[in-house]
Amino acid sequence: MKIGKRITALMLIAAMSLVGVGCSSANGEGKSARVIRVAHGQNEEHPQHKALLEFEKYVEEKTNNELDVQIFPNELLGATSQAVELCQTGAIDLVVAGLGNLEAFEDSYTVLNLPYIMDSKEHYHEVMNDEAIMGPIYESTRESGFIGLTWFDAGVRNIYTTKKVINTPDDLKGLKIRVQTSPTNVKMLQALGASATPMSFGEVYTGLQQSVIDGAENNELALVNNKHGEVAKHYSYNMHAMLPDLLIVNARLLDELTKEQSQAIIDGAKIANEFEVEAWDAAATEAKEKAEEMGVQFYYPDIKPFQEKMKDLHNEYTQDANMKTIFDKIRAKGDEILARNENKENSKDSSEIKAN
Ligand code: GCU
Repeated sequence: MKIGKRITALMLIAAMSLVGVGCSSANGEGKSARVIRVAHGQNEEHPQHKALLEFEKYVEEKTNNELDVQIFPNELLGATSQAVELCQTGAIDLVVAGLGNLEAFEDSYTVLNLPYIMDSKEHYHEVMNDEAIMGPIYESTRESGFIGLTWFDAGVRNIYTTKKVINTPDDLKGLKIRVQTSPTNVKMLQALGASATPMSFGEVYTGLQQSVIDGAENNELALVNNKHGEVAKHYSYNMHAMLPDLLIVNARLLDELTKEQSQAIIDGAKIANEFEVEAWDAAATEAKEKAEEMGVQFYYPDIKPFQEKMKDLHNEYTQDANMKTIFDKIRAKGDEILARNENKENSKDSSEIKAN
């Protein structure tokens, strides 16, 4: 990322916040359009960026260009944690934030961040699409100045390293592993015996290259889009987290806009969600193939020993009543899906027996 470009963008935002105006630009009819700034940390090839382009197209068309959506990728407006703070004040309107960044604002987000809380992709997606679970979580930060609008798939997070292959938790002993700036992620890696090193996403490549860290944990796209695979050649599918990124919006924005404009933002977010979730698997498969060409090796360790080591974290985090309620709802959905799939299996078996 060009530091000069980022500073210019930040100065622009700072100047706009100081004068306290929502920026405007001229639309096709010469009227001034309300600028809607959207910040995220991925590059232009990432499915989240492409989904936000769909959001932009939809919102601008629906509002006859009364809203002018401007997307800032690559942490151009600052590291995600800073972007979330700017979203609280309204200097940035929408931000795609990882759960690690949201944890500092509300415990509710922490539950989704717990290792191995989701049983499968099916479970993870059903939780994320369940209004009864996600609605209250999205609303929980209204007083902090932002709310959740929708989610983007961010795949499965696994551990990757520069030198040592990780087959068991013991292999992690003493290794410095980068985590997001989240207390849960720090505890998670500590439970595995690693030395957890919180760091912003944009610093990870240099950290790996200069051996400030021995590894990190992320989905396959980080190997290619962020070039981590140039330096870290051992990727182990220990599957510790299936985590969404959330599209958050300044809490006042939807009230300040006209009814039609805010509906366009809500519907546009839904369209972006569907586009991104649909695009994710192909993007992850492609990233894996490209990473293999870069010389990254993929390993498939037994995940049970990793799960065992992290089990206590579930107990620790469910001491709090609010977190326990969310935890229980997520687990209940997991059990429901398990029972549903078992039933399907059983009825398939019995129809196969009948056919024979
Ligand atoms: C992924 C995730 C981001 C997160 C990043 C990180 O790219 O999509 O939301 O910030 O990992 O590890 O920091």
